Amino acid sequence: MGIYPYFHALESRQDTVVIMEGKRRIMLGSNNYLGLTTHPEVVEAGLKAIEKYGSGCSGSRFLNGTLELHIELEAELSKFLNKDGVVTFSTGFQSNLGIISALVGRGDYVICDRENHASIYDGCKLSYGKMLRYRHNDMADLEQQLARIPDEAGRLIVTDGVFSMGGDIANLPEIVRLAEKYGARVMVDDAHALGVIGEGGRGSASHFGLEDKVDIYMGTFSKSLASLGGYMAASAEVADYVRHNSRPFIFSASMTPASCACALAALRCLQKRPAMVDELQSIAGHMRDGLRKNNIKIRESKTPIIPIYTYEPIETLTIAKELYEAGVYVNCSLPPAAAPHECLLRTSLMATHTEPIVDEAIEILAKVLGRHEL
Ligand SMILES: Cc1ncc(COP(=O)(O)O)c(C=O)c1O
Repeated sequence: MGIYPYFHALESRQDTVVIMEGKRRIMLGSNNYLGLTTHPEVVEAGLKAIEKYGSGCSGSRFLNGTLELHIELEAELSKFLNKDGVVTFSTGFQSNLGIISALVGRGDYVICDRENHASIYDGCKLSYGKMLRYRHNDMADLEQQLARIPDEAGRLIVTDGVFSMGGDIANLPEIVRLAEKYGARVMVDDAHALGVIGEGGRGSASHFGLEDKVDIYMGTFSKSLASLGGYMAASAEVADYVRHNSRPFIFSASMTPASCACALAALRCLQKRPAMVDELQSIAGHMRDGLRKNNIKIRESKTPIIPIYTYEPIETLTIAKELYEAGVYVNCSLPPAAAPHECLLRTSLMATHTEPIVDEAIEILAKVLGRHEL
């Protein structure tokens, strides 16, 4: 039907405005939340790392793939997140596989929000434990699931901190309360929360002032930290256990020198200029206001992920195509990533988006969406 939305190639620097397939498009579909992929210090750090260490690591952290840079990155993250043990993985996806499969053993239970990221699901499948799921952010359902678990079993609640498609924030205060009541541990996937919410961008636990109540943070370097790779931050004991028991960690090559150096440089940029987090919130607020003024129906969120309702798959794909042709790139969220009849256009902001660019995008969105009866 000519509305296939995937694999559009970028031909320029990844910025708020990009060239895709020969044409200027406003980027409203990136997870580069702080706009750091083009920051001179981040780019320079990557170039220098390749010069110093070469292009790849050739092996696992466990054996020949540990650079002083990995250790430096883990130490800085440990300080930033105030957790004693940090382990870096080669991707965020691999982090969830590696953490959950190492920690959830035979006879244990892992309890997941239904809207958790695919990598959490796959981590659960890879573990020897049993997975239970609760309805999205439904704390009564979470309690029901916890109450079903035999007393002697280990239990780990896993949730996205900021949900990747809806942009809503997990109800951590209640999750933590229930975890204490039922003797469960808590793991939060902060892929979309690091650099986005919390004090200085420290993520969802910090957003609620619950840093000491969340046992394990998982995060990725591919979004706010402008690189590739992922991490677990937990106690020193848990980190040591994961380092020696996680197959996706032990049997896969480590982050490349450039990925490692860029993530570290981006983390330093965030610490130097925490105001970027406020700028991101502010431009997201501007976008939300503009969409509302134009009667565009959005799913409410307090993050830079602002989903627009388009309901049915064909309509969603058609609108995304028309927007693309008019010069705005957005992502489509279709089942199973969205509920049936609740398809969305997932828009996401970057701290470096300016008001004129966002206003231009809103005008195009209003024009295109206005042609459809939603
Ligand atoms: C919530 C969540 N967890 C994990 C990941 C995986 O991270 P990465 O793409 O860096 O492998 C993603 C990214 O798609 C995500 O959105």
